[in-house]
Amino acid sequence: MTKQFLKNAWYCAAWSTEITRNLFHRVIIGRDILLFRDGQGDAIALNNFCPHRSAPLHLGRIIDEQIQCPYHGLRFATDGTCVHNPHHRDGVAPDSARLERYPLVEKDDLIWIWMGDLQLADPTALPDFGCHTNPAMARVSGTITIDAYYELITDNLLDLSHVEFVHAGILGSSAVSRGSHEVIQDGTTVWSNRWCPNGEAPPALAKAFGDYKDAVDHWLYMRWDAPASMLLDVGITPVGGTRRDGWWVYGTDILTPADETTTHYFWGITYEYGKNDPAVAAAHEKAVQRAFVQQDKPIIEAQQRALQLRNATDIDEVKSIWLDTDAGPKRARLVLNKLLRDGQNAVPQPRNRPLHDQRETADAKDQQDRVVSCV
Ligand code: FES
Ligand SMILES: [Fe+2]
Repeated sequence: MTKQFLKNAWYCAAWSTEITRNLFHRVIIGRDILLFRDGQGDAIALNNFCPHRSAPLHLGRIIDEQIQCPYHGLRFATDGTCVHNPHHRDGVAPDSARLERYPLVEKDDLIWIWMGDLQLADPTALPDFGCHTNPAMARVSGTITIDAYYELITDNLLDLSHVEFVHAGILGSSAVSRGSHEVIQDGTTVWSNRWCPNGEAPPALAKAFGDYKDAVDHWLYMRWDAPASMLLDVGITPVGGTRRDGWWVYGTDILTPADETTTHYFWGITYEYGKNDPAVAAAHEKAVQRAFVQQDKPIIEAQQRALQLRNATDIDEVKSIWLDTDAGPKRARLVLNKLLRDGQNAVPQPRNRPLHDQRETADAKDQQDRVVSCV
């Protein structure tokens, strides 16, 4: 079945640091996009194929603030117009020689692209990743490619019951399956929250917290916004303590589909504890390599291959069972499917409610929490 992607939505195109004066390209919802910075440092996004013979422009060069096609040398301005044809006596290019330019917003150290109706592009309708630029915190981050349909990865992130099995010995703890799980919908924002009191600390977190050996209260609060922008608030604190007493990080998990079976995964760990210690940064990097690259990625890609053997791309195309732990993924899929049906409208404003810093107690809820599932 051909999958549909939300059209009128912001997609993360890159981390800010990925886009430089060098020509770079990335396939986003099936379109190849050329990304670079102009002389003022502003990020630019254009179609990455030349209207002459479809040569990919990222193989070309920037000359005098113009993109020169690598094949026959047409040159394009940063607004997409063809400004020079070396094969015409006066350098004139046909009017139809033009590249589409896409709106970009650079915010929270991320670059977001709009590929829908131009009049619906609202730069204020972005999910909040302000923690990325909080001067009190440090961050490690990167981009990985997963050969799977993006909703399978969303399922993985909104159902963290898998940590006990996929990430045993690193992030796993039996306290996770014993804990409680709430799914909250606020507008089109979905939270999948796990509260795991008085249990063993996941080994990686205990290690980061000075080899902490005692029982802890453990929380994993995941926020989701369409199409697939997630922020995890995860930590441990001594039993009965506040979140501030403990050790915690924000995990950024933003997914941008390249196509039906390939996804760009923008990951980040933003943290306060040990923010000036290179060893802490290295430990976070290592944990991500082990957990995401060596553990999540293989199981999700194997899941994708198993679906493809049944001529399916996504789990909704085969007969499958749902467990209580799937409440988060199920809710996000309901919201996403409704947005797809309303495809002519833009994705509504995310509900960027208070995060970790504003919560008093470790399991504190906000007044307006609307629990849609509780296990
Ligand atoms: S393909 Fe670009 S100038 Fe010919
Ligand atoms: Fe995982």
